[in-house]
Amino acid sequence: MLTGVSKEVIAIDGPAGAGKSTVAKALASRLGFTYLDTGAMYRAVALLAMRQGIGDVEEVAGLARGMELRFEPSAAGQQLIVNGENISTLIRTPEIGESASALSTHSGIRRELVRRQKDMIAAGRMVLEGRDTTTVVCPDARLKVYLTASVQERARRRFMEYAGKPDAPTLQEIEASIVARDHRDSTREDSPLRVAEEAVVIDSDSMTADEVVDAILALWLS
Ligand code: DC
Repeated sequence: MLTGVSKEVIAIDGPAGAGKSTVAKALASRLGFTYLDTGAMYRAVALLAMRQGIGDVEEVAGLARGMELRFEPSAAGQQLIVNGENISTLIRTPEIGESASALSTHSGIRRELVRRQKDMIAAGRMVLEGRDTTTVVCPDARLKVYLTASVQERARRRFMEYAGKPDAPTLQEIEASIVARDHRDSTREDSPLRVAEEAVVIDSDSMTADEVVDAILALWLS
């Protein structure tokens, strides 16, 4: 069978809290590749919509089409600049995560963000992470990974991330929100979260982030 040429890309999908960002950032740094956090783009749209009080999804899709968005490298890690403003920290709240998940079920919003993501990865040498990077954004990635962990472990990790922050949610609240997000992200009609053909499934329950990075690097170099 004739197969297409694969792209020099590692694409990682998986549910909320599986450790995708930590692992993808470390891989990008080890390989000298560019990191693309596709979820941050959905979060950016959610933040713009929330600030402008826009609930109508068609109007939100218009916001997505009109925004100027770029990722900028910095000593403190990659920054997300939208319409000239650094929103990297502002998008990291549970509310924005929930809202991004809800808005991401809308095809008009997905179409616009996927179009931009495909443009960004055109040159390859990237590590992508999200919910549809292995299935829709870059199905021809040379390595596709589905990174997962149990709900309890993912909730525990998120709890540690929020610890000490004002208004930090309880472990029970985080667990409930993860269950709801898993359900929404994997049952939506357009590009649901699923294990892609040829994806390597890694269950990170009893692995450290470093062990996951090493496992993926070994696959990449094999
Ligand atoms: O990975 P994250 O928690 O930052 O993503 C926030 C939401 O954005 C997630 O719940 C679903 C949506 N998303 C998506 O639909 N497709 C992607 N490739 C990435 C994120």
